[in-house]
Amino acid sequence: MSARVLPAGEAEAIAEAARIIRRGGLVAFPTETVYGLGANAFDAQAVARVFEAKARPAFDPLIVHLLSAAELPRVVRASDPRVTGLAERFWPGPLTLVLPRREELPEIVTAGLDSVGVRVPAHPAARALLAAAETPIAAPSANPFGYVSPTTAAHVVERLGDVVHLVLDGGPCPVGLESTILSLVAEPPLVLRPGGVAKEQLERALGRTLAVAASSSRPTAPGQLASHYATRTPLRIVDDPRAPTGPGRVGLLAFGPRTGAGFAAVEVLAEDGSLTTAAARLFAALRRLDALGLDGIVAERCPETGLGLAIMDRLRRAAARD
Ligand code: TXA
Ligand code: MG
Repeated sequence: MSARVLPAGEAEAIAEAARIIRRGGLVAFPTETVYGLGANAFDAQAVARVFEAKARPAFDPLIVHLLSAAELPRVVRASDPRVTGLAERFWPGPLTLVLPRREELPEIVTAGLDSVGVRVPAHPAARALLAAAETPIAAPSANPFGYVSPTTAAHVVERLGDVVHLVLDGGPCPVGLESTILSLVAEPPLVLRPGGVAKEQLERALGRTLAVAASSSRPTAPGQLASHYATRTPLRIVDDPRAPTGPGRVGLLAFGPRTGAGFAAVEVLAEDGSLTTAAARLFAALRRLDALGLDGIVAERCPETGLGLAIMDRLRRAAARD
């Protein structure tokens, strides 16, 4: 099977994608963060196919996508007063909330956990698909497990083209990094993954400081694997990129403008030093460098404020080898 690619802006493409979801198939679709690999969240067989397609370990739960916060009772057990304020402020958008799960939601979605990660995506194509499919959609990032997440339809086709039935092409994802995951089942609330909503924004909304969960290689800590988003090429983070002295071809992933003398290839994430621009370009730049067959990639550190926290989180996991 080779995936069909249809323009996400066309009504007929959305209708076809919704039919596939309702029949238990897999559709890759754009969100504002990264492309997702979607299945009907209430169809355990379809969700199992998502795990299979990604070669994703069964201990790693999926995020459930909803059209609006009004649909929360379909998948979430209790109502939490904090959710209303967060939903008003950040949904639709790149925030995932971990909440107590309803028993009706198949266990495979949450990897047997008693909680579920839910978010309301902002991308018009994701919203159109959710509206047409009339079911919550469970969707991880549409990449093989452990590899860099896809921010274009071509990225999806490149790695998962033979296992997904349809790819909706909505162009490059505007945010470019996955959603921020905030656990409200943890006490106090805990950021499980930095992402498209800055931690500072969540802290202001909740009126408290938030800790970020430590990464781990323990399978009991889903979504926090130390090594993830990894390029095939070994990657190293540096404060001040200097021309490589050793043998071999080394690529530079620069945060700001650099000449890159001595490097075999250079990717500049943001000429203007904007973290938002850098986030949107990060994964595509990593993939381009990774495709060159280099001996190494040197990545320049960026400030860890706003989206910089998520950028550095992804770079550290890309650098970790275990
Ligand atoms: O931006 C995003 O969140 C994208 C788009 C497609 O929505 N999705 C995404 O999914 O990044 P994925 O599967 O690549 O990452 C989801 C992470 C997992 O690593 C998982 O461990 C964590 O969310 N997660 C999901 N449900 C959880 C739960 N109940 N408790 C703790 N972590 C959870
Ligand atoms: Mg992922």
